[in-house]
Amino acid sequence: MEISKLAGSIAESPTVKLNAEAAKLRAQGESIVHFGIGEPKNKAPQNAIASAIEKLQSGEVKYAPSDGLPGLKKAIVQYTEKNYGRTIDTANVVVSDGAKHSLANLFYALLNPGDQVIILAPYWVSYPEMVKMVNGVPVIVTPADGSFYPKLSEIEKSITPATRAIIVNSPNNPSGAIFSDEFIGQVVDLCEKRNILLLMDDIYHKLVFEGRKIAPVYNFTKKDIESTNVIVINGISKTYGMTGFRIGWIVTNRKLAKIVTNIQSQSTTCNSPICQVAAEAALTGDQSCVDTLVATIQKNRDTVLQELRSIPGVKVEKPEEHFIASRILAHSTRILWRWLISSSRKPSL
Ligand SMILES: Cc1ncc(COP(=O)(O)O)c(C=O)c1O
Repeated sequence: MEISKLAGSIAESPTVKLNAEAAKLRAQGESIVHFGIGEPKNKAPQNAIASAIEKLQSGEVKYAPSDGLPGLKKAIVQYTEKNYGRTIDTANVVVSDGAKHSLANLFYALLNPGDQVIILAPYWVSYPEMVKMVNGVPVIVTPADGSFYPKLSEIEKSITPATRAIIVNSPNNPSGAIFSDEFIGQVVDLCEKRNILLLMDDIYHKLVFEGRKIAPVYNFTKKDIESTNVIVINGISKTYGMTGFRIGWIVTNRKLAKIVTNIQSQSTTCNSPICQVAAEAALTGDQSCVDTLVATIQKNRDTVLQELRSIPGVKVEKPEEHFIASRILAHSTRILWRWLISSSRKPSL
């Protein structure tokens, strides 16, 4: 069977693949520590589970509006007001099947063939493939100094007439780095001056350690939600450890929100109402589950740091956020590999 050239050019997600491989080995009884997809190990918040059960038991599980259930959209409006200090309307919000789907919808809505999207290295492995899926061109900006922090001048040099958007993910997957307020402010300025869209992937914005807070991106623009070049992408996967519920969203101007809704209405139709009511409960309920999750992840980070630092030759940078030990291992893979083999642990890639 012939497949399209475009489909043939898209690589499988390596993190999703690693997850499947780890699950297979685990099922065979292997003891596996895997550094694939980022997934908190907590249980979903109890009130979210209760809401999902109640919805199921009602027997009324039907199509939902393509842009999301009104109750969830209202909860996202409140979340945006509380966490971003921005008053928005439900018409500015579109709920999708996870932040990954929100991003895919945005690329679909915004990119013509050949349009370029700037991606800051190191980056989440899915970004370039998702851009390519709509015939866009990913342009990778890698910090020349070998750090995790690109300079504004490096971004500026990569801008061409075909540049349509820049993706910023802070806290960052995979580095764990948090970009400074000054840097985010400069990128917002740059985007607004050069009419480039800033896709702010905030999926990790609550998973920060030692009481640190991320300044909301809207702090850096004077424009209102209808005219700013900033688009926020967020979701419940990481903050509430609800990866399997597949709820993400965008906050943007009404016009783009409507276009994304049209795209969704012709693709997935809508997100499952069971997951949406669960997400609404998570967002509006007691938030101490987020603090507990952050404390657990911070403890795990500290344990991994301590253990890694005890290995001769391993240089470890302390990540400012995140739950995935692979962030910590970014610099040390080869040494770790040798250590795994020498200590008779079984490496599997
Ligand atoms: C940077 C980044 N953005 C988005 C996502 C997607 O999250 P979701 O589960 O909401 O699709 C991930 C998932 O690993 C991620 O690391």
